[in-house]
Amino acid sequence: MNYDDLKKALSKLPLGEVKYFDSIGSTNTEALAWATTDTKDLSLVIADEQTAGRGRLDRKWFTPPGTALAFSLIVHPTAEESSYLTRIVGLAALAIVDALQARSLIAQIKWPNDVLLNGRKVAGILVESVWSGEEVDYVVIGIGINVLKGAVPPADLLQFPATSLEESLGPAMEREEILRDILAGIIALRPHLGTDSFIASWEKVLAFRGEQVQIEEANGSFTVGKLLGLEPDGSLRLSDEQSNSITVRFGDVHLRPHR
Ligand code: ATP
Ligand code: BTN
Repeated sequence: MNYDDLKKALSKLPLGEVKYFDSIGSTNTEALAWATTDTKDLSLVIADEQTAGRGRLDRKWFTPPGTALAFSLIVHPTAEESSYLTRIVGLAALAIVDALQARSLIAQIKWPNDVLLNGRKVAGILVESVWSGEEVDYVVIGIGINVLKGAVPPADLLQFPATSLEESLGPAMEREEILRDILAGIIALRPHLGTDSFIASWEKVLAFRGEQVQIEEANGSFTVGKLLGLEPDGSLRLSDEQSNSITVRFGDVHLRPHR
């Protein structure tokens, strides 16, 4: 990635500071450390390659050089935004879906933190926050996107099938422009974080909506139900065969279609 092209692409956005790395362990780890030093709101860490990219619960996220987008946006939430922290993963996911839609791609959100294209994972989101007592000091929104085919890990390393934008769009894509559109989307959606229409937009693009899904928890337990939508806090709403409502909260849960 060329730093001058990156700066040019981002020049019209109201970002804080931007740090670019050819290679880094994890942009989220860097952003978490940076955010403690009075960093401005909307500061950005971006890397061409990650050698220790992280998914949820320290699962690995692969970011080979020259193939992907890997970045972390530091947000200093307002008092109002602090009461909607569990919606921030939805904010990022919606901004990704919108940026892909602008390229005529219909993407869906595999709750809670993945974006699918043609039923395969094309992007993942890792939101981490740092608290001081009861207050959230800052939130780091980490986003990884498989842009070129080379970003997609070998199938035997995956729990869920993956794809890249290249598989749908061909190789002629500017990573910087996709990045710009996602950041612009996050910035534009941010004032709507606390609204009902925000939840409605998030629900509308959920993968498997109206279908039978299964939720596997870390303890090995399975819940099967029809995916109905979201609770106001972004938890997932299912109904079981007796039409009892089930709420699935954020945590170490894996969502799959039920076959
Ligand atoms: P799933 O629902 O796929 O089981 P998860 O949402 O619980 O996954 P996450 O922590 O969100 O898991 O994502 C990490 C997982 O994503 C890794 O365990 C790996 O299987 C997969 N993965 C890693 N790198 C990539 C990538 N570049 N593209 C797609 N998938 C990836
Ligand atoms: C997931 O699907 O579990 C989330 C993957 C998030 C990956 C991104 S890449 C940029 C940022 N830095 C990281 O180490 N992780 C996130």
